[in-house]
Amino acid sequence: MEFDTFPAAQYRTSDPASFAHTSARERWPIIITQGIDDVHRSTSAATDAATVQEGKDVVSELARLKYELQHDRELTSIPDDGEPDVAAYNDELATRGVCRWHSVPWLYAECYLYRRISAVFKRTQHWRNYDIFARQKIDTFKSSRPAVLELAARYKSIVTELQQKHTLAGAQSAADLEAAEELLFREMCEICLWGNATDLSLLTNLSYEDIQQLQGSAARKNSEKNILVNDLDKAFQTLRAAQKAGTKDRRVDIVLDNAGFELFVDLLLAGYLVAAGLATAVVFHPKSIPWFVSDVLPADFAKLLSALAAPQTFYSALSEADKAAGKTAQPLAPAEHDALTFLFQHWTSIYAEGQLVLRPNGFWTTGGSYWRLPKGAPELYADLKESELVIFKGDLNYRKLTADAAWDPTTPFADAIGPLGPGSGVRVLALRTCKADVVVGLPAGRDEELRQMDGGSTEAGGRKWAWSGKWAVVQFSDGKA
Ligand code: F6P
Ligand code: MG
Repeated sequence: MEFDTFPAAQYRTSDPASFAHTSARERWPIIITQGIDDVHRSTSAATDAATVQEGKDVVSELARLKYELQHDRELTSIPDDGEPDVAAYNDELATRGVCRWHSVPWLYAECYLYRRISAVFKRTQHWRNYDIFARQKIDTFKSSRPAVLELAARYKSIVTELQQKHTLAGAQSAADLEAAEELLFREMCEICLWGNATDLSLLTNLSYEDIQQLQGSAARKNSEKNILVNDLDKAFQTLRAAQKAGTKDRRVDIVLDNAGFELFVDLLLAGYLVAAGLATAVVFHPKSIPWFVSDVLPADFAKLLSALAAPQTFYSALSEADKAAGKTAQPLAPAEHDALTFLFQHWTSIYAEGQLVLRPNGFWTTGGSYWRLPKGAPELYADLKESELVIFKGDLNYRKLTADAAWDPTTPFADAIGPLGPGSGVRVLALRTCKADVVVGLPAGRDEELRQMDGGSTEAGGRKWAWSGKWAVVQFSDGKA
């Protein structure tokens, strides 16, 4: 908290114009209810008496949390669950004074919510490592099968071409090659960007056509106009310059967001960067506790790879959503199977070579913004400075980069990320579909235009256009310049 020196006020759950208001009153109770249902199901399936009893206790703890939230009670200290970050959460709460659920800074309260949920489990014996959101995450991945197959085929052809010729078809001259590589880089990054739009809350109940519409290549082209700021050229030039300079170790980091389809597209980008020589290694930063429903835990990474290790088995077991819709399993066609196998082999080989690394850190699930990174997590900060480019995926990472504060939307991105901006030694690229109020770096007048669109603003004057995941920003700051 002592490092929170940003000049703009943070969004609060008491502000009727902010998505924080709706989130605290409508979304969070639903998320806890879904969690209760999940634990209830697992408890019913358990046979061991101690597990069943603890499962019931967990359900009542979660119900209590929901009650406190809905009745606008005070946020209470997180009970000691033996984890090292409890003290920081509780110290911050004590410093903030009385905080009620419906009148508290959005960012801290939402992080606190997931940390409280985690403490309920960490204090048990049999549910310590239980992921309350795991069921939803893997189902989501299964539901996005059409896009997964389309992208797997595309990936296989790109990587095969890169591996065989170390060049791209149709590229005659060095300039041609450069342009072709930049195009491909943009494509992979934009796949990765829009993979964030189709996250858990949006994707689970979509039909084949809906998914195709959101994730297919035609849709991606069409969505380019919805990228309000696109700095991918700068990011590409940076990686290309390091490659040309012959720098031996060229690392790209990805601060991950959601599991399932989004993790799949993150892996596509990682594999592509290595195959194209734009990076010599990619470091993934997952979360360490179940977080904002769909965020990646190390176990989600393992689950995704094991699904791809035996794709026919994976796809012949129907997802909950598909079962409910009365669907029957469709076996994979041989070409589809081949493409998925290719992808699995490529990813496991770069993983085995140490070119794909998973590096969790407790900082990612602390209650503050990334303005606190240099002083709050100096080792992690030093590590990120080693990277050529640090890609932050998704909405929450963007909120944390910009401190979830009500900036003027024309504030330069490099200013709004404070200590991670110019001179920080960290090159930041945010790939973010907008699902919250904060936005910076827009041309003058653009926010006003978007607010005037149908459904672009709430009655209370909220920036509603920025809540749906339909618009995006791709913003770069060169902290090494
Ligand atoms: O929809 C709002 C929200 O839950 C925000 O609280 C949060 O920033 C975001 O969605 C999570 O989205 P993402 O997975 O892209 O970070
Ligand atoms: Mg997320």
